[in-house]
Amino acid sequence: MITKDLSRAIQTLKNNELVAIPTETVYGLAGNAYSEKAIRKIFELKNRPLNNPLIVHIKSINVLDEIASEISDSAYKLAEKFWPGPLTLVLKKKSHISDLVTAGQNTIAVRVPNHPLTSELLENLEFPLVAPSANPFTFISPTSPEHVLSYFKESLLILDGGSCSEGIESTIIGFESDKPILYRYGSISIDEIEQVLGKIKIQTKVKKSEIVPGMFKRHYSPRTKTIITEDVTGIPEKFKGKNIGLILFQNNIQNNNFIHQEILSKKGDLKEAAKNLYSSLHRLDLANLDLIIIEKLPNKGIGISLNDRIKKAAHQELNYIDN
Ligand code: TXA
Ligand code: MG
Repeated sequence: MITKDLSRAIQTLKNNELVAIPTETVYGLAGNAYSEKAIRKIFELKNRPLNNPLIVHIKSINVLDEIASEISDSAYKLAEKFWPGPLTLVLKKKSHISDLVTAGQNTIAVRVPNHPLTSELLENLEFPLVAPSANPFTFISPTSPEHVLSYFKESLLILDGGSCSEGIESTIIGFESDKPILYRYGSISIDEIEQVLGKIKIQTKVKKSEIVPGMFKRHYSPRTKTIITEDVTGIPEKFKGKNIGLILFQNNIQNNNFIHQEILSKKGDLKEAAKNLYSSLHRLDLANLDLIIIEKLPNKGIGISLNDRIKKAAHQELNYIDN
């Protein structure tokens, strides 16, 4: 059920039960990071494989050294610049952190979320919160309480903090011999990270044995068949007779065949497009369509992160469709 009652959320978490919490990026499915029982419930409810580690949410940079060690100057620089905010750091973990959280690795992913309700929640708890996005494994991340409710129904307590202001997940940065590496594109663009640290490495392809974000090719997916395209001209003719939903960056298509058109940002603002992308996908996914077609966004700044998500949501690129 959806509630604004913070004390109820606090009590539920203290009982090692789960609560869906608002963050500036997406809603998280939160539990006590020090309770194996709570952590196991998260994996079960999400149907998430145990080899996919969780992000730990802490109240402030001041408690970072309670869970992480060997924190480099670069890591502190980023944390000071972007926390509270949509940046996740992968650091060496302290030994008391459960292997369930980190999938047995010696590193831990951590961030300080930036949402007033969740900050207040964390202030009132004696433990940090593990919180993956509050969606079943591989489905679209939720950016509103209603999205979470549609996935998990009434049995889960959902703390209502309105719509998420950023709309896509945090950017994940790790370190190899103190050199920063991007593990997951996200709400903070590469440009913004590089303004703090200089040029950074981008890890897009990984060895099979490694566990890193985005290792699962299909991710963030709607149930409806979804494809992406560079160019929407010619789409109406190509898919005549089909019930299609379109997600477009700035301009709609003048064609009566499409009753479902979602414009991400009329003024062409990529930040606004980020805020709207997942909710457009959720809406179209519930509209009983044959197909969702998404237009690729300008590949700059946060547009790079959005294109990454769109690619993972899509089942095919239009160029590869054989018809
Ligand atoms: O914005 C966000 O980060 C949201 C909100 C709720 O905070 N959370 C989120 O969590 O996106 P989740 O579980 O959906 O994605 C966490 C990602 C996974 O891809 C996981 O593989 C990666 O973080 N991760 C966690 N621990 C890691 C580690 N030690 N090393 C590398 N990647 C890690
Ligand atoms: Mg997720």
